[in-house]
This record gives sequence, C-alpha cells and structure tokens, in this order.
Amino acid sequence: MSPKSNQKNAGSKVPVPARWRRDVEKVLITERQIARRVKSLARQIERDYQGREILVIALLNGTVLFLADLIRHLNLPLRLDFIGVSSYGSGVTSGDLVFTKELRLDVRGRDVLLVDDILDTGKTLSRVLPKMQILKPRRIRTCVLLDKPSRRVEKIAPDYVGFTIPDAFVVGYGLDFSERYRNLPFIGVLRPHIYKELGGDAGLIHGA
Ligand code: PRP
Repeated sequence: MSPKSNQKNAGSKVPVPARWRRDVEKVLITERQIARRVKSLARQIERDYQGREILVIALLNGTVLFLADLIRHLNLPLRLDFIGVSSYGSGVTSGDLVFTKELRLDVRGRDVLLVDDILDTGKTLSRVLPKMQILKPRRIRTCVLLDKPSRRVEKIAPDYVGFTIPDAFVVGYGLDFSERYRNLPFIGVLRPHIYKELGGDAGLIHGA
C-alpha cells in the first residue's frame, strides 16, 4: 500500500546545540518540524479511523517519544499495547531480531495501528506483520516517523510516514546508538567517528 501521508523530505539548517556538537554532525529534523509533522499525522489518522476504536501497538524501544507525542494528539478512542523487538548485532547493520515482550491485548477483530520510529531494511516490520496477521485483526495499518527507503531489503510500504530520510546514521527523538542519544529532542546525524570507535562495543543497534 502506498503511504497515505503527504510525506516530507527531511532537512534543516538549524545548528547542532553546543551540548551535542561533539557527537552530532547536523540536525536533520528539528524539534519544531517533528512537532508539526506529528500533529498532522495525527489529524490524518483521525480522519481515516473516524468512528472506530483503534488498537495502537508500538514497537519498543525507539518509538517511545514519537508514540507519546502521536497519541496525545489523537482525538480517538484507543487502547495501547507494546511489542518488544530488537535487532541485536555489532557494527552498524541490523542483526538478528529478538522478541523481548509479547502483546497483552486481544487483537482479533481490532483496527490495529502499528507504530515504529524508523523503517530501514524492513526486516523488523516484515517479521512483526505476519505475527500480527495470525491474530486476525480487522485491519493493520503501519505508521513510521522515519522512512529510509534506500536501505530497504524487504518489500514493505508503510501507510503513514512522517519523514523520508537519506541513508545517514540518525539518532535522537527515541532513536539510539548503543542505547545513547534517545533523549535528543531533535533528529540528528551521528558523526561517523562515534559509531566507528564504539561499533564493537555497541550491543544493541538500530539498523541505521
Ligand atoms: C530499530 C527501529 C525499528 C527497526 C528498523 O529498532 O526501532 O524497529 O530498527 O530497522 P529495520 O527496518 O532494518 O528492521 P532496534 O532493533 O534498533 O531497537 P530499538 O527500537 O530498541 O532502538
């Protein structure tokens, strides 16, 4: 399915805050751009789900900031659940997927909105979606804040996309490198020396 959003290409000229300049090369998406886009995604989702209750299922951990902002703008009845899934690997590529938390709520017959922070190779969603389908929801739509189509290896087309981004190592607003930088209020491009130096020690890495 093609994206329902009027997706935006990321880009900003805002300087990196001094506190993060050593680690972050540039601000790709500002706090303000994120806030505006998340609100408009929420409006779009509201229109599509009018009169229905949705079951929002978020993929841990990177999605937490996006999720919190998105659902507080959704004027719809909704229930919320989480799936824990992580790609474990060393280096900067996605490794094997490990499920760390299963769903609690019943999915059968529900309108599911699957929310993730970034769609990269598509390996995560291509594993999670069939797992959801088995549970017989009424319908599943997918919503990602960031889409990096240049790295796709699985055929996945999200329904809602916040920003389409280039192939850069992005951190912030939930996205990490080695579990760090999730708290940045903006999305930035990590300086290569950071992930080159720490790559071997990385542990949990997203597929950026
Ligand atoms: C990241 C991100 C997505 C996935 C996208 O998760 O949150 O779920 O990678 O990559 P893919 O399209 O190549 O599968 P990660 O495993 O890094 O865990 P995290 O959410 O805890 O950061």
